[in-house]
Amino acid sequence: MIDRLTLTNFKAFQHAEIPLGPLTLLTGLNSSGKSTVMQALALLRQSNMAGSLTNPWRFIENGIHIPGMDGLLLNGELVGLGTGQDVLHEDFSGSAPMITLAVDEGSYRYSYTAAYAPEQNLLPLVETQLPSDTEGPAHPGPTEAALHPSYFRASYFQYLHADRITPAERYPRDHQVAIGRGFLGVRGEHAVNYLRHHARDEVPDGPLRHARAKSPLLLDQVAAWMGELCPGVNLEAAPIEGTDTVRLSYGFGDALTATRRRRPTNVGFGLTYALPIVVACLTAQPGGLILLENPEAHLHPQGQTRMAGLAAAAAAHGAQLIVETHSDHVLNGMRLAVKQGLLAPEQALVHFFRSTDGSGVEVITPHIDEDGQLDQWPMGFFDELENTLVQLLD
Ligand SMILES: Nc1ncnc2c1ncn2[C@@H]1O[C@H](COP(=O)(O)OP(=O)(O)OP(=O)(O)O)[C@@H](O)[C@H]1O
Ligand SMILES: [Mg+2]
Repeated sequence: MIDRLTLTNFKAFQHAEIPLGPLTLLTGLNSSGKSTVMQALALLRQSNMAGSLTNPWRFIENGIHIPGMDGLLLNGELVGLGTGQDVLHEDFSGSAPMITLAVDEGSYRYSYTAAYAPEQNLLPLVETQLPSDTEGPAHPGPTEAALHPSYFRASYFQYLHADRITPAERYPRDHQVAIGRGFLGVRGEHAVNYLRHHARDEVPDGPLRHARAKSPLLLDQVAAWMGELCPGVNLEAAPIEGTDTVRLSYGFGDALTATRRRRPTNVGFGLTYALPIVVACLTAQPGGLILLENPEAHLHPQGQTRMAGLAAAAAAHGAQLIVETHSDHVLNGMRLAVKQGLLAPEQALVHFFRSTDGSGVEVITPHIDEDGQLDQWPMGFFDELENTLVQLLD
């Protein structure tokens, strides 16, 4: 599990250390740096997937930097960040413009420092430290497996951007991405095809299983969790013959009262928008990492709370989730999960990002106790209801 992410001179952050837990909520005003945290993690994984972090030892062992071979790949499948001048913090600290991203897992730190190249989208690594032991005795010598943080190797990784699939007549049927790699796509565009292929997989017994689902099979489990958003809904995902696309359809009611099947464009926005979130959480695997932006989007308040409960269930199942949200219902859903014992208080973190007057970002971390209570409510942290009520009652 990633315990901490340290960002230096990266986008909104001159320097920030962000503790992470099994379930971490990132909250705060717009443009305060929440997505940047996920982008940093995705950037490292993207660079590694492209083979541009292949041999971080070389720079240490030979003392030679081979430009253009290893580096942070700014544009790819997970993130498109532009060029060096877009990602270097505009008020960078240090004598030279450099970006460092460091990931702590257990007692090991994996640190990547890249040089500034204003017009390039591959920022050359200038220094990559061997995994170093942040607490205990010196590292005995990294094995191949320990070169990079374990989330690079985790077979289960999902990153769902705020901008996801909308209701449509068809969705892509890409075997390599959806089935081969099990990746839902950053817009969740492969979720329908994934669901079609894995419909009869069983959701393991445990926190993820919905008690009122027809069966443990993934399709029925997805329908049951979607039923938290719209009671009685069921889904079908089927290929469209002769094309490389799949179709999604919805039904409402049980077999006797069911209306005819409806296409996504005729059932509203929220169900389809939430589908990739539901599929990602229900198929979470222990040791996997899920990055979710705004799971609350287009959902009614109760549905938002339920989505937080599902995210907490995925964390209780052993995956790590980092969730950006503007919703106090999502926050409350996480607090409830702690109060109900699904997660221990130390497994549920919440950070509040606040821009400071200068160019920096302040990160405040209220702590949750076992009753789901928070030890502080900084100004601007989900206090708008009270602020408005005070004015209304004045
Ligand atoms: N190179 C840079 N130097 C300094 N600040 C930057 C740089 N690039 C982006 N930013 C700042 O980062 C912020 C955007 O961060 P981010 O996208 O993480 O916001 P967010 O908190 O996710 O917002 P939202 O809630 O709207 O999704 C903006 O304030 C932007 O000015
Ligand atoms: Mg964001």
